[in-house]
Amino acid sequence: MDITDSELIELNFFLKTYTDYDLTDYSDKSLKRRIDKILEDYKINFKGLLFKIKNSKEFADQIIKDITVNTTELFRDPKNWHCIKYKILPVLANNQSINIWHAGSSTGQEVYSMLILLKELNLFDKTNIYASDINTDVIEQAKKGEYKYRFNLNYLDNFDDVIKKNPYNFDEFNDVKYEKYFAIDKKSDVITMNKELREKIKWAQNDLVKSQNPFYIKFDLIMCRNVLIYFNTNLQNKTLKLFNESLKENAFLMLGAHESVIGLSEAFFSKKNKYYIKK
Ligand SMILES: C[S@@+](CC[C@H](N)C(=O)[O-])C[C@H]1O[C@@H](n2cnc3c(N)ncnc32)[C@H](O)[C@@H]1O
Repeated sequence: MDITDSELIELNFFLKTYTDYDLTDYSDKSLKRRIDKILEDYKINFKGLLFKIKNSKEFADQIIKDITVNTTELFRDPKNWHCIKYKILPVLANNQSINIWHAGSSTGQEVYSMLILLKELNLFDKTNIYASDINTDVIEQAKKGEYKYRFNLNYLDNFDDVIKKNPYNFDEFNDVKYEKYFAIDKKSDVITMNKELREKIKWAQNDLVKSQNPFYIKFDLIMCRNVLIYFNTNLQNKTLKLFNESLKENAFLMLGAHESVIGLSEAFFSKKNKYYIKK
């Protein structure tokens, strides 16, 4: 069943009224796709969905969580990590300290990837890592730093690509052992990030729709990958403004591999290679 434009308006009104969240400025296309899936998963019709949202705060909050897409992986899009490793972090290495915000960090793989890279570049101690998401369930999972092993074998390939190999010099090979950063328990099928990495991260629940920097400090790098694609142009621009205001002078913004600020407000960032610099 495909929900219509007027049903979407009605649903957004119900969510806004019965939860603390306003999804009006999410992209209609992706919202409709998620709602169709929710109707199928819960085996209810549209009127039934509205009825439950109105009558149960717990259900309404769960629907907000169900709407958000949490797909992520360790060193997702390795080419973007090459850019972080060889273009961004070497510049930040000159700073006395480095502040990084992962906005929309989901279950944490992106944050652990950054910590591993910082360790390898000897920047771990001078870096403060902050991570936020709208969804408290994924933050709790992220804090545990536990991921399925067999289902995520590509994590190891990505790790090899970013940590062991050098795309600019194929003769170079850094034989970094996985155990340096995470334990692999094949019997229980679990990868667990080391305590030192887990304890380094400061977490916060934060809704980007509300345009607030939850950490009240300025950053050298904001990572917001594969989040803006779920927003409409208005909310994308609002979020870019927030990021602009939350960054230090000449600091960096990294978006997802298939995202761009092109076509959005050009007042906030200029594009360089695969990343953006605060204007
Ligand atoms: C597809 S995941 C991206 C995870 C990671 N950044 C990556 O690229 O692998 C999108 C994340 O954005 C979060 N998100 C969606 N809407 C949000 C909002 N309004 N404020 C903060 N986070 C949001 C979702 O909960 C989800 O965890």
